[in-house]
Amino acid sequence: MRQQHRNKEHPWPDYGPRMRLSLRHRNIQLRTATGCLQLDKSRRFRYCVVVLVWTALLLTGCRNVDKDTPLDAGPGKVQFESYCAPCHQRDGQGTQGRVPPLTASPWVSGFESRLIRIVLHGLRGPIEIHGKIYNLEMPAFGPVFKDEEIAVILSYVRQRYGAPSPPITAATIGQVRDATRNRTTYWTVDELLKVR
Ligand code: HEC
Repeated sequence: MRQQHRNKEHPWPDYGPRMRLSLRHRNIQLRTATGCLQLDKSRRFRYCVVVLVWTALLLTGCRNVDKDTPLDAGPGKVQFESYCAPCHQRDGQGTQGRVPPLTASPWVSGFESRLIRIVLHGLRGPIEIHGKIYNLEMPAFGPVFKDEEIAVILSYVRQRYGAPSPPITAATIGQVRDATRNRTTYWTVDELLKVR
């Protein structure tokens, strides 16, 4: 137990360093407050304006951080991060020299019939994106996903990494699936370029 002693010069019990710090802190606060009150009128006004502006900035900053855009709040983001981001990365930038970026890719913002085919049946290189050639394979997702799921993912991908565009519907995915029912191998760029 801390020994509390009194002596003549300091008639207060010694409560230890934490209490001393808090007393000192209060003392500083008190001095700042009285200092403020002593400011002349115009300086006090300026002081208030500065405090108000900082508070407003702080509040708007916090709101922006906390608020998700409707795009982020939808299920597309969750699905994308589980199934596509392991290769294409969350920011859609891909991995240097291995997986091509989705950001600003013509395959993402171009014909939806091509984008849907890539996801349904996979893709085999070579493919050139932003001046770099990639020569790997992307697996097919058609057998594992329902039309609605692919629609949700691709609508997210187009809006996030392509350009503002209307959502891709499950009906469109269904049509492409039907039209390519007999496809069993990955697509190549040459084949896809013939699709409109
Ligand atoms: C296992 C890793 C992997 C996963 C998972 C994957 N991709 Fe890919 N993706 C690739 C590779 C590798 C290529 C390039 C293939 C090539 O070299 O031809 C590619 C190419 C693409 C392309 C065309 C090129 C470009 O950059 O625009 C699109 C679009 C695409 N992927 C979308 C998706 C979407 C959407 C998902 C999630 C449903 C997904 N990918 C999941 C590896 C992957």
